[in-house]
Amino acid sequence: MRFETRAIHAGQSPDPVTGAVVTPIYATSTYAQPAPGEHTGYEYSRTDNPTRTALQEVLAALEGVPEESGGGCVATSSGMAATALVGHLLRPGDHLVLPDDAYGGTYRFFAGVLADHGVEWTAADLTDPGSLQAALRPATRLVWVETPTNPLLRVVDLGAVVDLAHTAGAIVCVDNTFATPFLQRPLQHGADLVLHSTTKYLGGHSDTVGGALITADPALHQRLRFLQNATGPIPGPFDAYLVLRGIKTLALRMERHCANAGSVASWLEADPRVEEVAYPGLASHPQHGLAARQMTGFGGMVSFRPRGGREAARRIVAATTYFLLAESLGGVESLIEVPALMTHLSVAGTPLQVPDDLIRLSVGIEHADDLIADLDRALG
Ligand SMILES: Cc1ncc(COP(=O)(O)O)c(C=O)c1O
Repeated sequence: MRFETRAIHAGQSPDPVTGAVVTPIYATSTYAQPAPGEHTGYEYSRTDNPTRTALQEVLAALEGVPEESGGGCVATSSGMAATALVGHLLRPGDHLVLPDDAYGGTYRFFAGVLADHGVEWTAADLTDPGSLQAALRPATRLVWVETPTNPLLRVVDLGAVVDLAHTAGAIVCVDNTFATPFLQRPLQHGADLVLHSTTKYLGGHSDTVGGALITADPALHQRLRFLQNATGPIPGPFDAYLVLRGIKTLALRMERHCANAGSVASWLEADPRVEEVAYPGLASHPQHGLAARQMTGFGGMVSFRPRGGREAARRIVAATTYFLLAESLGGVESLIEVPALMTHLSVAGTPLQVPDDLIRLSVGIEHADDLIADLDRALG
């Protein structure tokens, strides 16, 4: 089955009772048992719910988990809930490496929560193997990767990071939120875990918050299932349904996101009012060749710095019409923001600080001409 077919059919056979072609929203907390302990595989919805199972199965299939591997997916109530489950794999005295431009919330969790539980961290530039090598310690158990990174859109060589991390005895978790499995499948590069904020492209319509962790390693999968049941950060069945519904059109949407982002990035790069543009699809991007090898498209996120510094950035983001000034990304509608003041406020004053004149665009699936006209007006 090819990707587009899996997105619609994996885990989503017609309902055996009614033939319904859409997986029902199983709004139930519990399941009747004919005799104590005799159940159909479902006993309580914190442990398992059929709508969530369908979502977990399709996500595992899209990330390329072999059916016979015993691996799978654990869907969570948010991307951060998935990050927190990964945190529960670590123990006091363990050390992890974070990218030096990780999503601000990821940094906040590891530096502001897990550090209080005795887990140490080091930030490294994962585009530079020397920087990762220098950050690794005998106690390093986890290397966290984002690629493309949020918000600088740097691209990390997954195979190279996996080799270094595994040699050091650490597992690799890749936050694949920006690329989605349509454009990049980290497990094929040897990563141990893939994380998603399903809030973004997988849900795709800015109407739900969710997360997921996917692994082909059966022991890791069982441990994550245990942790999910033990700590409880599950999505409700309606949220699982919304993400399932979004995934059906993921391939179509990503094609349009990539095409529009490419047009917007090229237009910005040619405009004298713009200082610098970061988009992995531009030949000027420092890791453009790597992105072309590792991804099947360059994604829908574009970052740029206007001439005129942070005052210009503040003015521009307040002046667009179709690009809505808002946090988040990956929905059908275009969004604009200043990471230093919004999504990445929590990294101000840390090694992960982002430039205060950087503007991040989540390029939606509207017509590219309208989006470019909107930016043209706003740049003034
Ligand atoms: C790359 C990335 N990872 C993880 C998250 C956290 O996801 P959530 O907001 O669903 O908790 C975000 C949120 O913006 C993100 O951009």
